[in-house]
Amino acid sequence: MSNEYILALDQGTTSSRAILFDVNGQPVAVGQREFTQYYPKPGWVEHDPEEIWFSQWSAIQDCLKNAKVDAGQIKAIGITNQRETTIMWDKETGKAVHNAIVWQCRRTAEYCDRLREQGYQEVFQQKTGLILDAYFSGTKVAWLLDQVSGLRERAERGEICFGTVDSWLIYKLTGGQTHVTDYSNASRTMMFNIHSLQWDPELLQILNIPESVCPQVVDSSAVVAHTTIDLFGREIPIAGIAGDQQAALFGQGCYSPGMAKNTYGTGSFLLMNTGKEPVPSKNGLVTTIAWGIDGQVEYALEGSLFVSGAVVQWLRDELRIIGQAAETEALALSVPDTGDVYLVPAFVGLGAPYWDSYARGTIVGITRGTNRAHLSRAALESIAYQTRDVLSAMIQDSGKTVDVLRVDGGAINNAFLAQFQADILGCRVERPAVTETTAMGAAFLAGLAVGLWPDRDALSKTLAVEATFSPQISEADRDALYGRWQQAVERSRDWVQ
Ligand code: G3P
Repeated sequence: MSNEYILALDQGTTSSRAILFDVNGQPVAVGQREFTQYYPKPGWVEHDPEEIWFSQWSAIQDCLKNAKVDAGQIKAIGITNQRETTIMWDKETGKAVHNAIVWQCRRTAEYCDRLREQGYQEVFQQKTGLILDAYFSGTKVAWLLDQVSGLRERAERGEICFGTVDSWLIYKLTGGQTHVTDYSNASRTMMFNIHSLQWDPELLQILNIPESVCPQVVDSSAVVAHTTIDLFGREIPIAGIAGDQQAALFGQGCYSPGMAKNTYGTGSFLLMNTGKEPVPSKNGLVTTIAWGIDGQVEYALEGSLFVSGAVVQWLRDELRIIGQAAETEALALSVPDTGDVYLVPAFVGLGAPYWDSYARGTIVGITRGTNRAHLSRAALESIAYQTRDVLSAMIQDSGKTVDVLRVDGGAINNAFLAQFQADILGCRVERPAVTETTAMGAAFLAGLAVGLWPDRDALSKTLAVEATFSPQISEADRDALYGRWQQAVERSRDWVQ
């Protein structure tokens, strides 16, 4: 039995995690540290880049202590990260010039409106595969260059680095020697041309961003750098990089076109592998790079839902009608249905496939008899309905049928949700035995690069299914329920003036 391991770093929106995987693809130890969320204004979200790094480094140390594994046994490091979140720092000193602007932050929504009014939507969509939206990095970088005093001049002198969180961590891990990102992260910046695989001069000009701030774009599975000796006592190869949702697609073993996964976290991210050709979306999805391996890029269609699991937190923390998220399962099962109540959790607008920044949360159909069980059930059902919105768009865009949706993330451990998801999609829902799919994807990418696993077949063999949920309602019932959801969504739209 080999005693070699891959260390996966999973730098997420609310916590930094480090997970050690053995050669069988099994997690053997975990370290996790939460960090501060800053909300300087309504709709704005920031993180402190130094705290991101500190929490990540602390999680690594916790993980290694828990595992009783020596750094000498770590064959490589794989990095996966919250995507789009934008950090800029001084190339020489490594000092961040501002807090990180988080993917959820809406501060550039009006700037995006202006760009749309100027007719730029199409050129961005055609070149980057993305919707022109404040979610992606491009307008966040432009905001920093405009708002941080003296930053534009420094950037034009070549003194400033921009990066998503992967770039920032690699810069830190290599003692400031390496400024890179991988194809999957680059494809979320709204500045990267997913066809030519270059930073796009025209888009950079529209956004008024000097190319010198951009990182070098590298493969997702390759030794791109080594950690400095002082961190681990030896140099460890950094051999895998991918945005967290693309990493989960890889960790779920979705290696062939048509295979899809959904991750149920704060938001939900449904990705379908579309193979070596990008599939443009006509139905409100984004086209994104899944990964680049051996110089070959593969693509995915993605539907991002801004609020899914977070609706349950809202029941708990704001409405306070439950004490713990897990209670929703029994509550939902305690009633035969929601009594025609629908909850649309458009708390920050609606993401895919609607892209309506001005929608807001809506509950319709409440009567005197509506109680917390109905609301809990409506909240869980909203997660499944939103997933159907996105999967339907994906099936139309890709022309593929989906027989199985692979699922992961905390919320889908809720058995009611998993069953309802299968019912409302009309396809099988498979939950894997190892649910650390995001970190596993990063570990797989790194392990492939250093030869711990020979190929994707070997990776697939490490995967097992823990539970399968099959549809149990009639098509007529499915359509009736979903039709009412679509009516409810219409009532939530375009609310903010
Ligand atoms: O696009 C945003 C996504 O990458 C965030 O993922 O898991 O940190 O909420 P997570």
